[in-house]
Amino acid sequence: SQIITRAVRGNFFDIREPVLRPEDFEAQVRYVEDGLMLLSGGHIVWLGSWQEGEGRLALAQKTAGLEIDDYRDKLIVPGFVDTHIHYPQTEMIGAYGEQLLEWLTRYTFPTEQQYHCADYSKRMSKFFLDQLLLNGTTTALVFGTVHPESVDALFKEASDINMRLVAGKVMMDKNAPDALLETPDESERDTRALIARWHNRQRLSYALTPRFAPTSSPALLQKVRLLKQEFPDVYMHTHLSENVAELSWVKEMHPEHQHYLDVYHQYGLTGERCVFAHCLHLDDSEWDCLHDTDSTIAFCPTSNLFLGSGLFNLQKSWQKQVRVGMGTDVGAGTTFNMLETLSEAYKVGQLQRYRLSAFEAFYHATLGGARALHLDDKIGNFNTGKEADFVVLEPGVSALQKLRATNSKTLAEKLFVLMTLGDDRNVYSTYVDGEQVYARDALQGGRPA
Ligand code: GUN
Ligand code: ZN
Repeated sequence: SQIITRAVRGNFFDIREPVLRPEDFEAQVRYVEDGLMLLSGGHIVWLGSWQEGEGRLALAQKTAGLEIDDYRDKLIVPGFVDTHIHYPQTEMIGAYGEQLLEWLTRYTFPTEQQYHCADYSKRMSKFFLDQLLLNGTTTALVFGTVHPESVDALFKEASDINMRLVAGKVMMDKNAPDALLETPDESERDTRALIARWHNRQRLSYALTPRFAPTSSPALLQKVRLLKQEFPDVYMHTHLSENVAELSWVKEMHPEHQHYLDVYHQYGLTGERCVFAHCLHLDDSEWDCLHDTDSTIAFCPTSNLFLGSGLFNLQKSWQKQVRVGMGTDVGAGTTFNMLETLSEAYKVGQLQRYRLSAFEAFYHATLGGARALHLDDKIGNFNTGKEADFVVLEPGVSALQKLRATNSKTLAEKLFVLMTLGDDRNVYSTYVDGEQVYARDALQGGRPA
């Protein structure tokens, strides 16, 4: 038997298996009140009740001085998965007044130019990863900037804590300031070098990251296609159908293509591990294409509301059976926090008469996000053999939350109140690869030494 390196006591909630219909989540809910989870290094080897587990623990081979991380009054859930976020927009979150295209020009492009500097990239990478961890997010699919330095810095910081992270440098060769443009040849060369350096190293994966159709020439998209063919297990990560002005622009630029998605599809950029952020204004044939190619959507409610882009149709994604994960889309998104993101997702549902249950919401933020990234064999719940990435939530941290919690009866109600009222204060501790990487009450207010 494996050596037990850590034992965690608390109340555990997760979803056992993906489902095909939202009505079926209830049957997949696992809630272990006063449970025990046993870890061996970075993996989960057992989860069950404390009573059962205590005996097992007594018999198990343990590392000397094994202690029990005791979270008896807390709720432990799988680490959150953020399927779309821009780390080089952290410092411009909450920028006033514009919708997508003007917002890019006025705020985003100037900000991203700072990432030519390796030192700046390193500083911001640390800040960014700390923000993910203090919000309980343990895996993310991340946009860098066009500069390879930006991605080197981020991967380096993530590798130091053996985090599961997918990222890539932006590829773009038109419709942005010169300082952010490259030629297709440069783009290929820099991307190739980053893949060689980082892809499949520790828990890191690379994502080919053409920003979106309007900043990509045919020659650039052709480079992305060739790289995707050469490295079939790298991701492809881009934006699709976010804003109506963007749609008309794409139509003008590509009159030969019937739909926005066709532009990517014709270059072979649909399929497994192809992730499209937003997808707000798709027509039926685009939905069908996403389904038929088994592509993935990142649903980014705080961004879609903040930029006034539109409402994502979650119900349609069930009808069409398309993989969906949650994305914060910082800095168009207004929070790193997945609880707040789920709360906004619920409201997006409300505006379309779709009832997002707490079980479905937490699924999208954990196992569903993992499945969206084809990582559900590794992360997303507490099944034996999964990687030990999890977050300890404290359900009542304010007078209002406590009052409301005492007035909620079922698990579904407690979770719903947590996502509706919750934020980063509710994240008590975060574990990555079986190690504690964030403790809210630690003296430095950051990672424990
Ligand atoms: N479309 C192209 N680039 C971006 C970006 O940086 N953020 C968002 N939200 N949409 C985009
Ligand atoms: Zn984005």
